[in-house]
Amino acid sequence: MAQLIVALDLPRKDAALSLARNLQGLVPWCKVGMELFTLAGPNLLTSLKNMGFKVFLDLKFYDIPHTVGRAVNAAAAAGVDLLTLHCQGGGRMCREARAVVDSLAADSPARPLLFGVTVLTSFAPGEMPGIAASPADFALGLAASAQDWGLDGVVCSGQEAARIKAASPGLLCLCPGIRPAGTAAGDQRRVMTPARAVAAGADFLVVGRPILEAPSPLEAARRILVEINAAE
Ligand code: C5P
Repeated sequence: MAQLIVALDLPRKDAALSLARNLQGLVPWCKVGMELFTLAGPNLLTSLKNMGFKVFLDLKFYDIPHTVGRAVNAAAAAGVDLLTLHCQGGGRMCREARAVVDSLAADSPARPLLFGVTVLTSFAPGEMPGIAASPADFALGLAASAQDWGLDGVVCSGQEAARIKAASPGLLCLCPGIRPAGTAAGDQRRVMTPARAVAAGADFLVVGRPILEAPSPLEAARRILVEINAAE
């Protein structure tokens, strides 16, 4: 069953915690991205864990292998359940991340899942600097590599999920760019409704503005969950 992740893309820690409290018991996952983490720091991750959420730290690591390995170690120590790194960091960087989480597994049964960002869902065809391939083809190639490098899954558009799942069985797909019918795409370009993303094989759906900007975030989240359940 696909799991819903709410992106806490808010400019204040108290606003993020208040939204989380509102969604507690309904939405299983919260995502903390670069804005909120920069504002609020790792204590927020602990607060969300204590509220019973699974925590996705979306900092999209992209650096030399040593630095990424150390950052993955720090995220694991903070109790993060899932984190992102860029597939374009390459094999040595991704394998280092995997080696770090494998070395933790001996001490603790829980380790963060590692998800490689393929092509940001905000890219339209022709917008990736220096890359002639379509976003879908490029994402497919990166996903195959990500599996070879030991990542648990990839971040991709729902539009690419079916091809990725067919080519790389066992690789999990986490899809942002989710837009319920009638909601604004904003800066996202490769979007899909929750139902279509689930039908395409998405394992996790990340939703920010369609929940955050709804008149009732709780109602918006409920409607998305109903759509996910009906599509299974
Ligand atoms: O508001 P919206 O639903 O577009 O939010 C999507 C969230 O997913 C944002 O927090 C964004 O940073 C994140 N994300 C994304 N595309 C990726 C990876 C992460 O939109 N490829």
